[in-house]
Amino acid sequence: MVCLGNICRSPTAHGVFQRRIDQAALQDKILVDSAGTGDYHIGEQPDSRAIEAASARGYELRTIRARQVAKKDFEIFDYILAMDRANLQAMNESCPPALAAKLELFLSYSESGQESVPDPYYSGADGFELVLDLVEDAADKLLVHILKQHFPNH
Ligand code: 4NP
Repeated sequence: MVCLGNICRSPTAHGVFQRRIDQAALQDKILVDSAGTGDYHIGEQPDSRAIEAASARGYELRTIRARQVAKKDFEIFDYILAMDRANLQAMNESCPPALAAKLELFLSYSESGQESVPDPYYSGADGFELVLDLVEDAADKLLVHILKQHFPNH
């Protein structure tokens, strides 16, 4: 899960999808992580507003620490999902072309009709609720897709 700072949107997507995986008892088979294309917040906890909004819906983000996308991520992960088009573009510029098919917009899995998860950093509390609404919807659809593609007998 990739955004700019790795303190608002992508840790939210990370925590939400991790719970979907846990509920499906696939935690030993699917590794989820998050990172940012920027380096502004490396080592920090998620934004306290993201932690609080997620916590109210039962998600734990406190153990996540921000890191920047690294070259090895393009090899390790099968799905590399950007929260918006700018971050997709940023990764396209550093990803080896042979691996670039792994790069997608996270919301391409949702049916919300929205392309991007809006950056809530400069918004109020409702921005963080919108992030959760969009992320929960896309996470549900992504899990269905992964189950169908990779765990047909699950
Ligand atoms: P995120 O939000 O990309 O969802 O983590 C942001 C966090 C920090 C900044 C921008 C976006 N920033 O410019 O510091």
